[in-house]
Amino acid sequence: MKRLIFISAIVLVCFSCAKERKHNYVIGVSQCSEDYWRETVNREMVLEATFQDGLEVRIRSVKDDSEQQIRDIESFLKDKVDLLVVSPNESAALTPIVTAAYQKGTPVILLDRKTGNDNYTAFVGADNYDLAYQLGEYVIAHLPGGGSVMEVRGLKGSTADYERHQGFMDALSSRPDIRIVCSAYCNFLQENARDSVLTMLNRLGDDVPDLIFAMNDAMAIGANEAVAISRKPRPFIIGIDALDGPGSGIEAIRNQVIDASFMYPTGGETVIDVASRILTGKPYERENTLGTAVVDRNNIHIISLQNEQIRIKQNDINELNNRLFSLSALHKRQRLMIFVSWGLVLLSLLLLSVTLHSLRVRKRLSRQLEEASQAKLTFFTDVSHDFKTPLTLILDPVEQLLERDDLPETARQSMLVVRRNSYRLLDLVTQVLDFRKYENGKMEPRYTLQRLDVFLMEINQVFESILDKKRIQFDFRTDMADYLIPFDRDKVEKIYVNLLSNALKFTPEGGRINVSLHRFEDGGKGMWRMRVFNSGSYIPPEEIKMLFERFYHKRNEDGSSGIGLSLTQALVRLLSGEISVSSAENDGTAFTVTLPVPPEESAEQSGAQDDAMLFSKHQALAIDAPKMEKTPLPDLLEGEGKPTVLVIEDNPDLLATYSEMLGDEYHVLLAQNGQEGLEKTETYLPDLIVCDIMMPGISGLDVCRRIKGNGKTRDIPIIILSAWNLDDHRIAVYESGADAFIAKPFNPRILKTRIRALLDKRNLAEEPVPERKSLAGEQRDLLDRLKEYVETHLQQEISIDDVAEHLNMSRTKLYREFHRISDLSPADLINMFRLRKAASLMLDQRLSVSEAAFATGFSSSSYFTKVFTKFYRMKPSDYIRKNNLNDNAD
Ligand code: FRU
Repeated sequence: MKRLIFISAIVLVCFSCAKERKHNYVIGVSQCSEDYWRETVNREMVLEATFQDGLEVRIRSVKDDSEQQIRDIESFLKDKVDLLVVSPNESAALTPIVTAAYQKGTPVILLDRKTGNDNYTAFVGADNYDLAYQLGEYVIAHLPGGGSVMEVRGLKGSTADYERHQGFMDALSSRPDIRIVCSAYCNFLQENARDSVLTMLNRLGDDVPDLIFAMNDAMAIGANEAVAISRKPRPFIIGIDALDGPGSGIEAIRNQVIDASFMYPTGGETVIDVASRILTGKPYERENTLGTAVVDRNNIHIISLQNEQIRIKQNDINELNNRLFSLSALHKRQRLMIFVSWGLVLLSLLLLSVTLHSLRVRKRLSRQLEEASQAKLTFFTDVSHDFKTPLTLILDPVEQLLERDDLPETARQSMLVVRRNSYRLLDLVTQVLDFRKYENGKMEPRYTLQRLDVFLMEINQVFESILDKKRIQFDFRTDMADYLIPFDRDKVEKIYVNLLSNALKFTPEGGRINVSLHRFEDGGKGMWRMRVFNSGSYIPPEEIKMLFERFYHKRNEDGSSGIGLSLTQALVRLLSGEISVSSAENDGTAFTVTLPVPPEESAEQSGAQDDAMLFSKHQALAIDAPKMEKTPLPDLLEGEGKPTVLVIEDNPDLLATYSEMLGDEYHVLLAQNGQEGLEKTETYLPDLIVCDIMMPGISGLDVCRRIKGNGKTRDIPIIILSAWNLDDHRIAVYESGADAFIAKPFNPRILKTRIRALLDKRNLAEEPVPERKSLAGEQRDLLDRLKEYVETHLQQEISIDDVAEHLNMSRTKLYREFHRISDLSPADLINMFRLRKAASLMLDQRLSVSEAAFATGFSSSSYFTKVFTKFYRMKPSDYIRKNNLNDNAD
């Protein structure tokens, strides 16, 4: 989605910019000097460029300095201007750079002056030779009887100077009576002319020339200044340029400072026009010769008028141009706004359609999900229904069999297990179906008028034998109020039985369950309240909140499906009542149900007695369990070398099953919960442990963690059995340190094979450590150092950290190094060295078993015997006997 918006924005920006990005050309203008004529031409070019879209004019001017002008041109070329306009200062000096630029492909327009060759794209300017020729003819006309002329020349080496001189001279060649009496280069500058003319006048003395020809008006004005300074009669002064403006030729003629001038047009507009044509590939003239005309006192008036008109028009044009400029800026801004607006509209539409689309998709998905979950629930309900018939069909013959007197005792016991678990299954199925009924709104209260207290007491009777078996002290009290009230038998039975079963599950042997019944009025409405308390269980406040959530069950702690309490709550709500829980840490837990007494009219007359207590009976049968006798502890040392397997499982039926399943091959120890399991592990150090995960109290995973965290028991292999079979669960199991995981339900052969494999791996008696000489030097050294450490610290508890420190390596490295040497863990190796020492003490020094045990740091001789037997596969006494026999034999 974000990407879509981003792409739209880019498209939009590109779109809005597209119109703006016409061809943009840069024209570099290199001017040879800075004066009024150049200012005029520059202004014209800049103004003209504004009329042509996409042309940029950059101007660099020098003060009659050819070196600097070359550098300017180089810099333009470096900036990669699209076209060069050059007015070369000195022709010869500028020719190479202009030629090079032209030859490298940059179009060059020469303005007013030329270079020494034809390497240019176009020329714009007057024909200096022709102009000066016309000027010569004008002079001839002015001096009909001949006369003397002073020539004030421009910049030596510039084509303007050279051509103007040639044209003038050629025109005068027909009149030898008109003589050039003196001449000087004045660089087209007024001050230079003033100084040079003054010098020349002084040199000429009284021979004042009849006429001064200055190659531009600035120098003509300078000549006039010189004449004034010399106080000599003023000759006729002619200039070139005839520009209008302050300090210009036209003004000078008007003020009679000079007498005549020849127009030398600036042609800035023509330059830009030709440049634009060249750049855009349009046809253009290579030689753009601008015309000329004389201006003197005969036409100065009319020319001034015309110029005034032109100025007015020019101002109008400028004004218009400014307006155009601001209008175009406004237009651009508006166009941008329009693009942005369109863009926003586009984006909004896009967003709208994406949102609509995702809404549609989401709706479709949630419909599909709803349909799928409905289908699943319907399937689940159907399957639950389907369970009922086969379960009844199982229970029927079982009940019949149990009624037979000739049934052997073992078969009776098995049948009882079948019956109990079938009822448990039936109960679960019923609860699921009830829940579905409630959720679908198909469950309705049905009231019958009956004694509530008597009804509850009848239920109590059903549970009497279970209470007895668990030696639970049961107390049922009422406030002796009138309990002949309408209530929903079915739902109240389920609520009460669920609470009672729950209490039974969590009350320890010898604990107590108290039920109290109480009637009261609330705002004039009759109510009744039932409280079921059990001792010995505690629910912390954070768990109380979740207690009624469907499928919530304290992880690992009870094997229930988690539906019972939430169904109870649903039933209470259906009857417009409330349920609450309170729990105190050293006391117990109480569930309180408060229900309204419905009006008597709501009671139906029905034969509800017919199926009396069926639910209660089933439930009682489901939770009834054979009383666990304290497992007789097999005498480990008396066994015939059978390995010992400890089974930790809270389900008595399963415990009995395992005992039977493994009894032939192993000494089986049984523990009904985690705590008992830990105690038995510590006391009997079994060869292997089989442990369930979900158990009340300490979970299987905790049992595993504690066993693996205890140096004494860490090496006992543990197989975890669990109905969980997801990857996460397996990971949790292996993280707890378990050696194997078997998912329930399982094939007994799998369990047996797994036990055998783990025990084989642990068979320590066959040389667990390779022959000393077969080890690499370093490993042998390591083993020797460990042995030496153990032998010098025999009387002390040796921790892995102590050994790691002594061997100067990290704990992890220690494990790794010893793993390379042997399958035994470092703890086992320490035990092995202790035992070897003990064995040698018994044989060589004739120490008794208990003496050897204490001498090698074992805290009790029974523990020593246990470890020794496991290691040497024989009891220490047998070991002594056997080796002494051998001694005798020797
Ligand atoms: C301006 C100018 C003009 C003259 C022209 C010759 O710099 O000196 O006065 O006509 O250059 O190139």
